[in-house]
Amino acid sequence: MANADAHYYQPAHGHGLKHDPLNSIIGPRPIGWIASLSAAGVPNLAPYSFFNAFNYRPPIIGFASTGRKDSLNNIEATKEFVWNLATRPLAERMNATSATVAPEVDEFVLGGLTPAASRLVKPPRVLESPVNFECRLTQILQLQGAAGDQIETWLVLGEVVAVHIERQLLVEGVYDTAAARPILRAGGLGYYAEIRPDAMFEMIRPR
Ligand SMILES: Cc1cc2nc3c(=O)[nH]c(=O)nc-3n(C[C@H](O)[C@H](O)[C@H](O)COP(=O)(O)O)c2cc1C
Repeated sequence: MANADAHYYQPAHGHGLKHDPLNSIIGPRPIGWIASLSAAGVPNLAPYSFFNAFNYRPPIIGFASTGRKDSLNNIEATKEFVWNLATRPLAERMNATSATVAPEVDEFVLGGLTPAASRLVKPPRVLESPVNFECRLTQILQLQGAAGDQIETWLVLGEVVAVHIERQLLVEGVYDTAAARPILRAGGLGYYAEIRPDAMFEMIRPR
């Protein structure tokens, strides 16, 4: 398919479409299901699909908060968070934790999820989630536009200091991505993709 007849737009002047296509194009995106504690010790849990891994050693992961939200405020105050893998069996409960609620509300309760003690950090893990990363804050970067203007979005980066993986996801020492049935955000008002074995293919890098 040649791209001679492209729909062209400059985002600063609007996309001219029914829905902004950005999130549907840059997708599916993995989900940062982030647990944190407020300075007062109230647990918080919320999904962030502006999320990814940025480094191997040490492992660094990060998510972007569009606007000031409880997760950002908590992590700024307490310097720790836990990432939890969102899977198909947990999808509806993950979604429930995205409700806009007051900081005093514990989204573990909203989602019917069990907080499990972490080992190295204070925020709890989601017990029902098959993979948890305990993280220490490394940086909070407020994003800027091309003109150097400050944007009300913050990128929260943390070092993964401890990892919990459900044993049945390890097949002869290899983590089986599809077996966990991870879900990813795929644009629209509520599209998701689920990774199953038939979605996988292998391609080795040239030397
Ligand atoms: C799948 C999913 C992905 C989301 N991704 C983001 C995101 O990347 N950034 C963001 O600011 N909000 C995102 N949201 C919305 C937040 O989860 C929502 O605003 C939530 O109330 C924030 O919780 P908190 O204030 O407890 O941190 C997402 C929601 C869902 C359901």
